[in-house]
Amino acid sequence: MTPDFLVIGAGVAGLQAAIELADAGDVLVVAKDSIWESSSAYAQGGVAVALSDDDEIALHEQDTLAAGDGLCDPVAVQALVQQGPAAIQRLLEWGAAFDRDGMKLAFGREGAHSRNRILHANGDSTGREMARTLYQKAASLPNVRIESFTAMTDLLVANGTVTGAVFFDELSQNLTPVYARATLLATGGMGRIYRDTTNPDVATGDGVAVAYRAGAELSDLEFVQFHPTALLVPGAPRFLLSEALRGEGAFLRNVKGERFMDRYSPMLELAPRDVVARAIVAEAQRTGADHVLLDLTHLPKGFAETRFPRIYATCKQFGIDLDTEPAPVTPAAHYAMGGVRSGLSGMSSLPRLYLAGEVACTGVHGANRLASNSLLEGLVFGALAGSAMKRWAKTPMERGEVPGEAEFPQMEESTLRSLAWEKCSLLRDRHRLDCLLRQLANVPSAPGRGSRALHELRNMKQVLELIARCALVREESRGAHHRLDFPETKEAFRKHSLITLGSEVRFD
Ligand code: SIN
Repeated sequence: MTPDFLVIGAGVAGLQAAIELADAGDVLVVAKDSIWESSSAYAQGGVAVALSDDDEIALHEQDTLAAGDGLCDPVAVQALVQQGPAAIQRLLEWGAAFDRDGMKLAFGREGAHSRNRILHANGDSTGREMARTLYQKAASLPNVRIESFTAMTDLLVANGTVTGAVFFDELSQNLTPVYARATLLATGGMGRIYRDTTNPDVATGDGVAVAYRAGAELSDLEFVQFHPTALLVPGAPRFLLSEALRGEGAFLRNVKGERFMDRYSPMLELAPRDVVARAIVAEAQRTGADHVLLDLTHLPKGFAETRFPRIYATCKQFGIDLDTEPAPVTPAAHYAMGGVRSGLSGMSSLPRLYLAGEVACTGVHGANRLASNSLLEGLVFGALAGSAMKRWAKTPMERGEVPGEAEFPQMEESTLRSLAWEKCSLLRDRHRLDCLLRQLANVPSAPGRGSRALHELRNMKQVLELIARCALVREESRGAHHRLDFPETKEAFRKHSLITLGSEVRFD
């Protein structure tokens, strides 16, 4: 079947858009891996929404703008905070089971929020519950088809208009085109570019890379959020230890057992994420360690297991009992504030190409995302994009040329990820960025049809180079972007960086 609408990505944003589109035509939703391998499904921390009795939409707006450090698009922020409550109500009607205090929804606290406004599900499995609810709803709609293990390699473009996408079949090595009247990229983030990341393996920046190659405008790629507390156990993935742990009173201590956040921020453990992440790096360096400790041992015994079952069980699996000992933690790449430039309704700079979720840069997060705003973003902007795409229903469908072989970088993925970490992560400067760009430019490439892993590596290299180019020209520090050689925030840079294929980075 040739669908009317193609949705690439089956996290919260993609599924929400598909539900919205279902009354306008046939919708095909594709996931690169199992549909449970999305950043949404991994999201523990919660979903921020101004629904509690003592909260106000204006306060959520204010906190989001403050976190964004002067770069939020105020209209996008208003859309998020104003449409958020209705989006959550809709999800409740479709059966989402958020945690409750008796009959009432239970609202938790996280860093840089002025009110308790974070909803959770099963303590620390919020994204999974939201994705489950949306999947069930989407799968019940006769017009929606969901296919997993379907990897996109490029967009199809005819006369500057996006006409669908190409998918790679690992077995036959064939490239298959899927045409559609409108295409949505809801492919999530790019954390896997970095050696240390909280993201699932699928987060290889595919959406940003294919949109760039197709000619779309990208924005604010230099702003990558590093979560302060990922579990640091040698050989294990950097499992996220949610900010909600600190929201519930967990302390950060250095390896000598001293609390240290008072040296870095009056907000202590609940300071903005970038401040806490840099404080951890500084404190680890000061004490000659590669980590600090996240300590819950002063909280009542059994609390961690009841309130954070997944986190407790995972730490236990790696030999750490949070009731009796602190967990070693380190910052890890977590969320991309930048991405494919997108209007409020998800429209890209290319006709018939739409974006929603982490791959999009609507400007809603500015230079730094407020904790737990991204699941809400997926719901609100997924619905807006789905609704906007309906205008293409019943319009003529165009074709496009299927690309043949691609050029694949001849380098190990682990080398790329280590380079990204060493030269373009929390602390940046001209020397490191120049050096990274030179090293990437010298990587040889070879043509071929590739494999899924090679297509991912190609995308990761492309996106890393774009991040480094944008980071190099932003000669200031703002939000998550910290330049050791330009530590001040500069008014002249209160602009979005923009980049398109074949052009230099510019600011707008
Ligand atoms: C967390 O639980 O700390 C992550 C939540 C988020 O990134 O919004």
